[in-house]
Amino acid sequence: MGKGKLWKWNENTEFSHVFEPDLQSIVDGATLNKGMWSEKVFGNQHPITLELGCGKGEYTVGLARRHPERNFIGVDIKGHRFWRGAKTSEQEGLTNVAFLRTRIEFVQNFFAPGEVSEVWLTFSDPQPKDEKGTKRITSELFLERYRSFMVPGGLIHVKSDSPLVYALSKEGWEKAGYPILEHSEDVYADLVHRVDPEFAEVLNIRTYYEQRWLEEGRKIHYLRTQA
Ligand SMILES: C[S@@+](CC[C@H](N)C(=O)[O-])C[C@H]1O[C@@H](n2cnc3c(N)ncnc32)[C@H](O)[C@@H]1O
Repeated sequence: MGKGKLWKWNENTEFSHVFEPDLQSIVDGATLNKGMWSEKVFGNQHPITLELGCGKGEYTVGLARRHPERNFIGVDIKGHRFWRGAKTSEQEGLTNVAFLRTRIEFVQNFFAPGEVSEVWLTFSDPQPKDEKGTKRITSELFLERYRSFMVPGGLIHVKSDSPLVYALSKEGWEKAGYPILEHSEDVYADLVHRVDPEFAEVLNIRTYYEQRWLEEGRKIHYLRTQA
């Protein structure tokens, strides 16, 4: 039988690479490792990539395995989900992985300008009723937040099963002046065949939700812009 949520929440408190500020401290302006992730957490100056809404952290861990010369932080509000990535990265001895539990609405509290090089948004909730984009973490409003802590020109990747996320992001980004650097409506029938082998390998990392949608026969979409 799988381990329960409580068990996972408890084990998260023992991991030195898991950070879970409580809500009150966030409201009070907690900044945790803001501006100090490199020296305090990773002990090096390697570029930092965030996976926002990371779930079990498949991209965080998958990218970290392939790129020991970079650091990766998975961010999600559900600690029992990213427990999986925290446990796997500990078991594999990966020293370039961390997890942060927060709502993405507050993520800019925890990173200083220029501290993050790249962002991945993997199978984010489409939020179909969110016409203004105040909840959809792929919207241009959220991109403005990410821009506040990204290096200029840092890449933002979206991988999604949702035609709505794909269409709204593409349209919203273009209107807001974010260039569409790459786009594909079908990652596995199209994109993986026309990118370099290293990036094709990255695109082939499958998340928990992605696996479910693939089994239902859905197409996987991809978009890239820059901060
Ligand atoms: C559909 S799941 C995708 C998880 C994972 N990326 C995957 O592909 O398997 C969306 C994830 O985003 C998280 N999430 C949704 N809205 C969030 C928010 N505002 N702040 C933090 N996490 C959020 C949820 O807890 C969930 O783990």
